[in-house]
Amino acid sequence: AIERTFSIIKPDAVRRNLIGQIIAKFEENGLRPIALKKIHMTREQAEGFYAVHKERPFFGELVEQMIASPVVVQVLEGEGAILKNREIMGATNPENAAEGTIRKLFALSVGENSVHGSDAPETAAQEIKFFFSDDELVG
Ligand code: CMP
Repeated sequence: AIERTFSIIKPDAVRRNLIGQIIAKFEENGLRPIALKKIHMTREQAEGFYAVHKERPFFGELVEQMIASPVVVQVLEGEGAILKNREIMGATNPENAAEGTIRKLFALSVGENSVHGSDAPETAAQEIKFFFSDDELVG
């Protein structure tokens, strides 16, 4: 089925001028950006977005990294977009990421891992809503 998923190009990747190379990976694999914007997340946004991780030991560092400099938030649409995006990104920890994946190619560490992607249909819907209004989605 055609799905929509949410993606963030994280600060480490934006700082290294990798926006175009990362979007190219999505497009080459059949995912279409239907909404995108560059933003500098506030602390409140980062803490709210990652609230599910707030008891984890890496939460503080995660928030600091996400607000350190701008990110690109996107909605990607395509056949099986949620799983496909996860395959294109590769494993969370770049040490475990498969050849050719975004994280294998570009990630610096598990924290500075270049991209975020929704992990399931429910989180995709929530995460899209967190950053985009319906009228910003241009399928
Ligand atoms: P992301 O998909 O954005 O979701 C939560 C983020 O926490 C994750 O990618 C990693 O960048 C970051 N993180 C840092 N340390 C860890 C860890 N030990 N396990 C999982 N995620 C981590």
